[in-house]
Amino acid sequence: MTKKDVKIEDVPGIGPKLAQKLRDVGISDPMVLAVSSPAELAKILDIGEGVAMKVIKAARDLLGIGFETADKIYERKLKAQRITTGSKNLDELLGGGVETQAITEAFGQFGSGKSQLGFQLSVNVQLPPEKGGLGRPCLFIDTENTFSPDRIVLIAKAHGLDPNEVLKNIYVARAYNAEHQIYLVERAHEIIEEKNIGLIVVDSLTSHFRADFVGRGELAERQQKLNKHLHTLQRLADAYNLAVYITNQVMARPDILFGDPTQPVGGHVLAHMATYRIYLRKSKRNLRIARLVDAPNLPEREVLFAITEEGIRDADKESKK
Ligand code: GTP
Ligand code: MG
Repeated sequence: MTKKDVKIEDVPGIGPKLAQKLRDVGISDPMVLAVSSPAELAKILDIGEGVAMKVIKAARDLLGIGFETADKIYERKLKAQRITTGSKNLDELLGGGVETQAITEAFGQFGSGKSQLGFQLSVNVQLPPEKGGLGRPCLFIDTENTFSPDRIVLIAKAHGLDPNEVLKNIYVARAYNAEHQIYLVERAHEIIEEKNIGLIVVDSLTSHFRADFVGRGELAERQQKLNKHLHTLQRLADAYNLAVYITNQVMARPDILFGDPTQPVGGHVLAHMATYRIYLRKSKRNLRIARLVDAPNLPEREVLFAITEEGIRDADKESKK
């Protein structure tokens, strides 16, 4: 039996009644159960925390979650692939494009190109591997209602692709608040499996969290939820060999007197969870500067790229125009 075939009823101790109860609250996959928190599960099922822990542990045992030998990790990492951004320089900055099994975060001010890069990637993931894609569709979680089908059409046409086909391969969900966003990602495994999704875009990751958890008292809860949300995304990235691209705003840091006074939202949680972080800044005209901030085995440096009518491109030709 592969992990794919495991049903919630297969978890020892879960009968049809409890299985239904779990399904009703959106837990239809033992994997989701295995990564639930006992306190949360106890609350939604109205059971004791001890019982909840037992159920979770049974799911973990069934799936064999725990230690993994290094050869397995190595084997999985060898399968990692890259999606081109449309700009050679930007690809090189990231070590060859946006990587699967990893979370790539773009942060920057309004108009810096975070969403544009998301649109570009949701088209590019559909390209065949020889053209820098994965030949797979995209899941797009839109939290700010800024998803633009018009841009997708232009970008698709520039690739010589049928825009309608490309649009049909982007599954868009609008998230209305932080809880809804969390819920969408926790339920995403169904559509990911069914459609063979190769990229998840969350644009933006943090806006709802910022709006829903205001005030100092709620900061800890926000960070905790954000952390769990990112873990869910990372697990999906690993389990399905897909890429995750998230966008993030910056906030002003009044306490910084020298240098750049802006910082990405989400603090340490994002710094630890995102594998690649790029900081986008506006330059002249349609040019943008991308700085790689945090990445394993890659130097921190900057490149220039352009946002054109046809999408993300290298800056060299553009800057001479
Ligand atoms: P926020 O979501 O507001 O934080 O910003 P963002 O970083 O997501 O900005 P976005 O990616 O939406 O970038 C918007 C910028 O992209 C615009 O200011 C334009 O410069 C550029 N842009 C958008 N559409 C086009 C287009 O059709 N042609 C060209 N040349 N540029 C475009
Ligand atoms: Mg945006």
